[in-house]
Amino acid sequence: MASIVMKNVEKRYSKKDEAAAVEDVSLSIDEGEFIVLLGPSGCGKTTVLRMLAGLEELTGGEIWFSGRLMNHEPPEARSVGMVFQNYALYPHMTVFDNLAFGLRSRGVPKASVKQRVHDMAELLGLSGVIDHRPKELSGGQRQRVALGRALVRDPAVFLMDEPLSNLDANLREQMRLELARIHRRVKVTTVYVTHDQNEALTLADRVVVMDGGNVRQVGMPDEIYGSPADTFVASFVGSPGMNLWTLEWESTGDCISMGGGVLELPYSFLPALEEAGRSVTVGIRPEHLGLSLVKADVKVVCRVELLENLGSHSQLHAHLGNEDSNDSKNLVARLDSNAYVDPGEEVVLTTSAGAVYLFDAISGERIEVADARYVHQENRYSLA
Ligand SMILES: Nc1ncnc2c1ncn2[C@@H]1O[C@H](COP(=O)(O)OP(=O)(O)O)[C@@H](O)[C@H]1O
Ligand SMILES: [Mg+2]
Repeated sequence: MASIVMKNVEKRYSKKDEAAAVEDVSLSIDEGEFIVLLGPSGCGKTTVLRMLAGLEELTGGEIWFSGRLMNHEPPEARSVGMVFQNYALYPHMTVFDNLAFGLRSRGVPKASVKQRVHDMAELLGLSGVIDHRPKELSGGQRQRVALGRALVRDPAVFLMDEPLSNLDANLREQMRLELARIHRRVKVTTVYVTHDQNEALTLADRVVVMDGGNVRQVGMPDEIYGSPADTFVASFVGSPGMNLWTLEWESTGDCISMGGGVLELPYSFLPALEEAGRSVTVGIRPEHLGLSLVKADVKVVCRVELLENLGSHSQLHAHLGNEDSNDSKNLVARLDSNAYVDPGEEVVLTTSAGAVYLFDAISGERIEVADARYVHQENRYSLA
């Protein structure tokens, strides 16, 4: 098992002035940690993984495994196991032979190969199909063989690039649980790439949120969700993401009125707002907005566009404010499935102060509200 240090890692695929695929990534990963790189398509996740594997040269920075500089080490000297999105098993070989292939080609003694393959098959629940060929396996079993093939060689670092994205939704969920279980058992240092926040939040010890070749935030899953560093993380994590509205505020005497009265905040926000300036970006998660909260410190006026009943809950789509204009800001709220509102109706949604985030209107960086940590924590349990 290895620890990993990335220092100002950069990758430019061409010498021209184009934007770097990976601009400046620094990150320390502990031995045995499960790290998830999360971000939209094209943000540089695969490039980072390929540089860790030695499949891509760095154009800047350093990569260290357990105190050894890896920049110029070839892939085979790095002891990495890798599973890609489009993994291919050897179709004419049995599960046993697929798992054994890497060990045999490295000259591991026969008895040891047998033992290790059987242990791996046991761990992955493949013992019953050990003599089957890939075409006789289910999608989930094939996926397990691919994982097993990478893990059986006992790599120092395990790299996975969207390994579940070709599976259907049910299987994906099942394999996610399976991956968590396997990691608890083998505890190998893992870097896992995905654009799926559910995978990231459920699997990761720490999530690295990337955008445009840069790291936006590194944190434990509940930090990423509960204390997003900026508007990008706030809107990317959460389903749907956080509502974000850039509005001007004024103090009315008994509350703070924003956007000419579409949003009301209590006075406790005044110091933070004064620091932010006249214009500020307010964020509230859809799941924290409701029609009738007993403790309603915060009010949001909106005009209903559509209410979608999704069974377990309903999703309200509305426009901020009561004007019927096309350029008004959108709002999404997650309501109880028995909530009822009419399209066109004006509705006041409420939430508590702890559910409100402030961001700098220009940089997008989050502005701490006094006691935000405490109230956000409380909020998660009482409202989520
Ligand atoms: N081999 C390559 N040659 C040139 N550009 C590439 C190559 N691979 C990736 N890129 C570019 O680098 C950026 C990051 O790509 P990638 O690492 O694949 O992102 P992700 O895995 O997050 O979708 C993208 O703009 C992509 O088009
Ligand atoms: Mg990719």
